[in-house]
Amino acid sequence: MRRVIGYLLAATLLGLASCERPAAPSSTPAPTAGSPVKPTPAPSAAKLVVGFSQIGAESAWRSANTASIKDEAARRGVDLKFSDAQGDQENQVRAIRSFIQQRVDAIAFAPKTEDGWQAVLEEAHKAGIPVILTDRLVKVDNPDLYTTFIGSDFVEEGRRAAEWLAKATSGNAVIAELQGTPGSAPAIDRKKGFEAEIAKHPGMSIIKSQSGNFERAKGKEVCEAFLRSPEGPKLTALYAHNDDMALGAIQAIESAGRRPGRDILIVSIDGVRDAFQAMLDGTLNCSVECNPLLGPQLFDTIERVKRGEKVPKHIQTEEGVYDQSRVTAEVVKARRY
Ligand code: AHR
Repeated sequence: MRRVIGYLLAATLLGLASCERPAAPSSTPAPTAGSPVKPTPAPSAAKLVVGFSQIGAESAWRSANTASIKDEAARRGVDLKFSDAQGDQENQVRAIRSFIQQRVDAIAFAPKTEDGWQAVLEEAHKAGIPVILTDRLVKVDNPDLYTTFIGSDFVEEGRRAAEWLAKATSGNAVIAELQGTPGSAPAIDRKKGFEAEIAKHPGMSIIKSQSGNFERAKGKEVCEAFLRSPEGPKLTALYAHNDDMALGAIQAIESAGRRPGRDILIVSIDGVRDAFQAMLDGTLNCSVECNPLLGPQLFDTIERVKRGEKVPKHIQTEEGVYDQSRVTAEVVKARRY
């Protein structure tokens, strides 16, 4: 009876688990954000079973990341057990436990926060199942608990955002900051990188800072509060940890009767298509790219690990910095996410 309940629980937790079964794999280089779609690889015999736990769908970046992983699994004929945690870290832990029970070939996940993974990763390690971190890093006592981390350097992204702003303002800006999800690696590191860079410019300071949880509606709401506060009229720049919050803030700034992109310069991170459109419209000034198209790199890596090859501990993605001077209607149209 307990066993039956266990199976039922596992099935419920996986929710809309997708098990796609078309063509099959080969090793191919990962696309950069603007590169064309690759040809279908040649079929092979072994079918890989991979469990993937996604954080949720809080941003356009996240939706593009999910699509990249599902599309690439389908293209290679990987049996993907996909679980959407709907923004709840506990759901991620439960999904990983369910993947362990099902004895999948590999587990991959985008961890919502840095902490809280030690126990479940020890369980995966004990079961001999390789774990690949995508997008965000975790804090654990023993780095052997995961095989590799595929994702961006968030500190560098924050640093690049500040470097662009310092250049655009000749080192003079009164800044409001919209932070990402509290406790998440991108929120912690993008803040760290930005602050370290503006520290070189005595004329730059952050006077308001609050989390908008990487969500557009929340970014708008928090920015409205910034603008209504006694310090609101002093603001000359906004730094958002992602594009969705910046796009929400643009609406708040317009409603407050100020001109986003002119009265208040806005720099954010991700490089999603809506942000490119906003740069074309002149309301967003700069977006530091963070590539969500991790599917090809993820499955290449899993295949390498299953072949017994050694993979680097950090597989980094290639990214650029875009401002209005680099954005045309063609660039917006060609954007893949
Ligand atoms: O971890 C990557 C971040 O998470 C992206 O910048 C953000 O848009 C997403 O929700």
